[in-house]
Amino acid sequence: MSDATAPLLAVSDLETHFPIRRGLLRRVVGQVRAVDGISFTIQRGRTLGLVGESGCGKTTAGRSILRLVEPTAGSVRFAGREVRAERPAALRSLRRRMQIVFQDPYGSLNPRMTVRALLEEGLLVHRMGDGRERLRRMTAALERTGMPAGTLARYPHEFSGGQRQRIAIARALVLEPEFLVLDEPISALDVSIQAQVVNLLVELRRELGLTYLFVSHDLSVVEYISDDVAVMYLGRLVETAPATDLYARPLHPYTHALFSAVPSVEAERRRRRIILPGDVPSPARPPAGCRFHPRCPLAEAVCREVDPPATTIGGHRVHCHVAARELAAGDAAAASQRIASLLTAAGGDRGEASKIVATAATSPHSPPGSGKATP
Ligand SMILES: Nc1ncnc2c1ncn2[C@@H]1O[C@H](COP(=O)(O)OP(=O)(O)O)[C@@H](O)[C@H]1O
Ligand code: SF4
Ligand SMILES: [Mg+2]
Repeated sequence: MSDATAPLLAVSDLETHFPIRRGLLRRVVGQVRAVDGISFTIQRGRTLGLVGESGCGKTTAGRSILRLVEPTAGSVRFAGREVRAERPAALRSLRRRMQIVFQDPYGSLNPRMTVRALLEEGLLVHRMGDGRERLRRMTAALERTGMPAGTLARYPHEFSGGQRQRIAIARALVLEPEFLVLDEPISALDVSIQAQVVNLLVELRRELGLTYLFVSHDLSVVEYISDDVAVMYLGRLVETAPATDLYARPLHPYTHALFSAVPSVEAERRRRRIILPGDVPSPARPPAGCRFHPRCPLAEAVCREVDPPATTIGGHRVHCHVAARELAAGDAAAASQRIASLLTAAGGDRGEASKIVATAATSPHSPPGSGKATP
């Protein structure tokens, strides 16, 4: 596409549902609405952070963009091409340009393959270069991630978690992609090396002009690395904004609750903790109206019936009836403050909200089959 202002990635009304099968005949008795109508864009060279509790659909969203799982509906445009409409050969060539790095470098690198075989696999699939050229590419990709060329002859288990994640990143980079889905790339790593890997990703983005979808439940890391942030709840994006706006002036009650549970974010901005009653409902039976209403301290009658449409103010988009009303009455800063005080008045500060982030932090499980990288 020639239009330089067009986003590299534009996702519209994307849905990915998984059938629930029962009985001897494996009849379909329902659908898990893992991703249920999400829209966002990412400009070339920028990073969108995707946050939300475990099970809200982040991984499915990332995998759907690359068609590692087939979306049910909606559109994914990458560099002006509709990913969902591409036939296998064209899809393969698009996939070289869009790579994914998984949370768990132990699971995503086949332990029976040498690093060389792991890195070469994609090059062979995409017929990139002869033997010598492939070696050059592999050595260069490893070097970029801070791994010596001698790494090629060794096996993944010979390396530490951080080094394995570097190898996984090199494996994506060797194909010279433009876009990376980074699905919780540091969550499985030791805290002491998380920052090194994040800094490596920041450096690679700058040097190679990469574009990222950065999935994480770590809100501090997301704030650090992202230009824009989308907050996901039960298959939907409830709020999307430039990172600085979102962290300074969150609007959606769920975003307030997420932020209030993070000590570092809270200390800086002196937020009160917000308790969310109950558990996340099943994505097989999302609540009517606003999906967040069973847990929202500010829920009103309308919230139980009407799905809140998007309200936008500048680049800030939110789906919430109360936020829409507050925005009609004042600017985003005033609306954010007012929602924070309504939430506090509705029973915040009992110190239990950390539970919602804790559930996100303790979920190393990926859906079946997610342990494969894209060759
Ligand atoms: N292959 C699958 N088949 C059935 N359900 C799935 C599959 N993958 C994910 N799910 C379900 O979809 C929902 C979203 O999962 P996921 O995308 O992994 O969320 P997250 O990455 O935010 O933790 C969860 O309820 C999960 O159990
Ligand atoms: S629409 Fe209603 S239930 Fe949903 S987040 Fe806003 S106030 Fe809460
Ligand atoms: Mg996930």
